[in-house]
Amino acid sequence: MSGRLPDSFIEEVLARTDIVELIERRVPLKRAGSEFQSRCPFHEENTPSFTVSPKKQFYHCFGCGAHGSAIGFLMQYEGLEFLDAVEELARMAGLEVPSSGGQAARPDTGLYDLLAACAKFYQAQLKTHTGAVEYLKGRGLSAEISHDFEIGYAPAGWETLKNHLGKDGQKLAQLKQAGMLSEGKNGTYDKFRDRIMFPIHDRRGRVIAFGGRAMSDDGPKYLNSPETSLYHKSRELYGLYLARQRAGRRDDIIVVEGYMDVVALAQFGFKNVVATSGTAVTPIQVEMLFRAADTVVFCFDGDQAGRKAAWRALEAALPKLREGLQAKFLFLPEDEDPDSMVRKHGQEVFSQHLQNAGPLSTFFFDHFTADIDLGNLDSRARLVQQAQPYIQTMPEGVYRDMMTARLESLAQHKLLIASQTTTTQSGGVVERGRPTQKRTPMRTAIAYLVQSPSLAAGVENTDEFTGSGENDLQGVEIFKELVDFCTQRPNITTAQLIEIWHEHPAVSYLQKLAVWHLPGEEEQQTQEFLDAVNRIRLNWVELLLSRVTNVIEQQDEYRALQQRQQQLKKWLEGQ
Ligand code: UTP
Ligand code: MN
Repeated sequence: MSGRLPDSFIEEVLARTDIVELIERRVPLKRAGSEFQSRCPFHEENTPSFTVSPKKQFYHCFGCGAHGSAIGFLMQYEGLEFLDAVEELARMAGLEVPSSGGQAARPDTGLYDLLAACAKFYQAQLKTHTGAVEYLKGRGLSAEISHDFEIGYAPAGWETLKNHLGKDGQKLAQLKQAGMLSEGKNGTYDKFRDRIMFPIHDRRGRVIAFGGRAMSDDGPKYLNSPETSLYHKSRELYGLYLARQRAGRRDDIIVVEGYMDVVALAQFGFKNVVATSGTAVTPIQVEMLFRAADTVVFCFDGDQAGRKAAWRALEAALPKLREGLQAKFLFLPEDEDPDSMVRKHGQEVFSQHLQNAGPLSTFFFDHFTADIDLGNLDSRARLVQQAQPYIQTMPEGVYRDMMTARLESLAQHKLLIASQTTTTQSGGVVERGRPTQKRTPMRTAIAYLVQSPSLAAGVENTDEFTGSGENDLQGVEIFKELVDFCTQRPNITTAQLIEIWHEHPAVSYLQKLAVWHLPGEEEQQTQEFLDAVNRIRLNWVELLLSRVTNVIEQQDEYRALQQRQQQLKKWLEGQ
């Protein structure tokens, strides 16, 4: 991760943020006692198990185990990276993101501005180039949709963009860094020339790259920005930013192959459509898709290449298919793509096609059984061999069981192993229910501290915990560190604490304890906390005591050995 924000800033950002307000804007919350509840935005459920605590400034779902601070929520819900989430909250709170150690926290901020300027430049160029406008019209794009997607035009010259935006040395270097220039024998020149330009936005709506379509049949049909510090193809989806603004979380999300397909479908009212930039769907992209919707419809060409691409998407999707999520596949007739389909047959018909998209299981089993004779025992054995490893990548649950059952019925063979192997999915429904961790005094005390940092004030004399036992009493160092930390900042919230400690090796341990259920009124809680602390002290003292006992025993042994030494020396001298 580039750049490092000071802890005090993260603390400040969280102090100025109210997690209830932040989440409420995205998920309708209902008050329930001192907390707020709703149905979980991260998994499908009918009864609310998602809770938000204003006191802790923390959210937690008892159903799927999702939890975190306001920063964590933005990361999980909007799919932002840590720094992006902090920046976003800072922006909402009206705080300026500091630069650390003289260097900007984000060395790339200038690149965003520059790419935004490139997009503006291309958009302006479009207005004066009738050929490009005619091309878009010819493809059926409305002016409005072109505007929504900020479509532009890169002029035919070799140095138009370079001359316009790269006048000084620093800007020129940045244009290069952003992938906008190509390098030739005689220096740099515009990478995109005489092309229709599709800006690619990140999840926060910032331009990070471009796809450029040729208007004639010369050269490659599309040119894409190279990988840069801002743009990682495998982690972005074209159209996602706009889709998230237009569609709700409950709408299905449609994945198509081309930029033009995204734009055309949007024009015909399909709001939730995204595309990869001509690459196979990656696991990261599947995660992003399932954050945006519970049902993902992969819409591919019906040809060989399309089927291959769909299979790659299926492979990436299988391990992510938690309860309540589903993937569907729609194959279009040969020589059609979503763009041509929707223009030829209209919105209704395309909508119908989407409705009829086949479930993943159909595509999966068709793939394996298409060319085999199920009447043949050897073929059925091969089917199991080939299909079973895929099923085993799925998270445990009803869906996986049903896929196994289907395989069994096709193979006419009961599969014992498949349903016994376990894969634990972090954040998956596997974690359902109460925490299973044993309640040791150490965990209890730390849980109380994390949830109510002000309790640390009641802990006296942590110096007692120094000495030779630190390796043997698990957690004592963290406990000590935490008490000292909380004593200095009694008013910190759970969320602030977790985020300040986000790079600490113990943070995931603290996060688990942050959502432990600690019943009782404040007074009783204080008592239980002190009780746990004193139990830790007792453990500690007993540990030291055992050390001392060892030493005493060693002393006895020393004396006995010394005596024996003297005896032997005397005996030898007497010889
Ligand atoms: P398509 O060839 O299906 O193009 O490529 P399209 O999106 O339907 O565009 P039109 O309708 O012909 O104008 C699908 C996607 O594959 C990538 C692009 O992202 C494109 O949108 N691609 C395609 C490339 O990156 N380079 C190419 O040369 C071709
Ligand atoms: Mn097309």
